[in-house]
Amino acid sequence: MEKLVIEGGTPLYGDIRVSGAKNAALPLMAATLLAPGEHILRNVPNLRDTRTMGRLLEYLGASVRREGDTLFIDTTNLTADDAPYEMVKTMRASVLVLGPLLARLGRTRVSLPGGCAIGERPVNFHTAGLQQLGAKCRIENGYIEAESGNLRGERGGRLQGGTVYFDMPTVTGTENLLMAAVLADGKTVLKNAAREPEIGNLIDMLEGMGAKISGSGSDTLEIEGVAELAPADCTIIPDRIEAGTYLIAIAASGGAGRVTHCAPAHLPSLVEKLRQSGIAVAVEEDTIAVGWEGEREVASVDIKTRPYPGYPTDLQAQFMALMTLSNGVSTIHETIFENRFMHVAELRRMGAKIKTDGRFAVVTGLGMKGLRGAPVMATDLRASSSLVIAGLAASGRTDISRIYHLERGYENLVDKLSGLGAKVWKEEE
Ligand code: EPZ
Repeated sequence: MEKLVIEGGTPLYGDIRVSGAKNAALPLMAATLLAPGEHILRNVPNLRDTRTMGRLLEYLGASVRREGDTLFIDTTNLTADDAPYEMVKTMRASVLVLGPLLARLGRTRVSLPGGCAIGERPVNFHTAGLQQLGAKCRIENGYIEAESGNLRGERGGRLQGGTVYFDMPTVTGTENLLMAAVLADGKTVLKNAAREPEIGNLIDMLEGMGAKISGSGSDTLEIEGVAELAPADCTIIPDRIEAGTYLIAIAASGGAGRVTHCAPAHLPSLVEKLRQSGIAVAVEEDTIAVGWEGEREVASVDIKTRPYPGYPTDLQAQFMALMTLSNGVSTIHETIFENRFMHVAELRRMGAKIKTDGRFAVVTGLGMKGLRGAPVMATDLRASSSLVIAGLAASGRTDISRIYHLERGYENLVDKLSGLGAKVWKEEE
């Protein structure tokens, strides 16, 4: 097993290019199941998770071919209608095949994702929503067994348009219901839907395939079902979480640089919070630059994670790492997941002063040079990126084990950081 080694204390300078968004690529790959034919997806990051989704599509009978950052996915001949536990357990987002398989085949069997390091993460909103569209869903031996039906009680037919209200905005829940509703008979309304940019990317793809959807970007989506869809040719949006991670890393190192090929409009809250922290932020069309106007000093700032366009939970851990370097005390309130402070104990190993109480963390800053390198362990994708940021800012050596978590969501991380002057490399454990 590999670990990541960082010799910290070097300010980062230069440009870093953002890849396509993991959390857009996964639902868009699943959406190719909705229409037989060859689909073209561009700007698809080459990650552990997108490879897993590719294998799941191949298991279902699709062919998946990569040329550079373009995927050619042919879903003409599906030979299976289930997503086995063996695949789903490695990546929860596999549940995203539930909606499209049910819509296309009228029945499917998808393993329940189970819990994960950051929370229980049930999928009850997904199944409850599908039942609003006339599906019969039951949990059997750890699997969601789902079958569509119509008012005449016939099974396996088209889903029926209906109204779905989500108790709280759910990203993959909204995506699953969108993909189920585009081929349903009649109109579907999704209320209190999630508004993340990745959902907008999915809607653009579906509309390009012939779907009828209105309300993109709002919390109410209306879908007029159609009888069939055509194969897609679309581009994955830039990864706002990868962009945010690198912006925070550059600032925390005391350096200055630009994140390019990103979508600044997708990071309103982070740009605001970085500016409140005393970091100079310049936004251009597809570039965000960070640097300093005066003293390299980070001001303490409070954050509260919220559904988009609020501050993203996927950038909470990274911002906490920055706050360990501040000149004051900050509060971090995690409202989305019940157990997303796994990085705290590891940051403490590097000397960070953090108190937690449930979903609140209070961080007492040590100043820019306060952290010390140490051996630490990655526990989940975003927690591991906060340890990378801390390791870059710390004096001395940091060894991060279990970096397979990182490879799920960051493409070419070592090369990209080395390009900014970081002393970072991989070693066998
Ligand atoms: C998506 O997960 C992202 N994953 C997550 O990113 C991200 O943290 C999360 O949205 C929130 O922004 C992908 O897009 C593949 P939710 P998702 O359903 O859809 C509760 C990363 O680091 N809930 O929006 O699974 C749930 O427990 C990953 O890239 C239910 O109770 O998250 C949570 O508290 C981590 N029942 C809240 O809603 C349900 O049926 C929001 O979760 C569904 C969700």
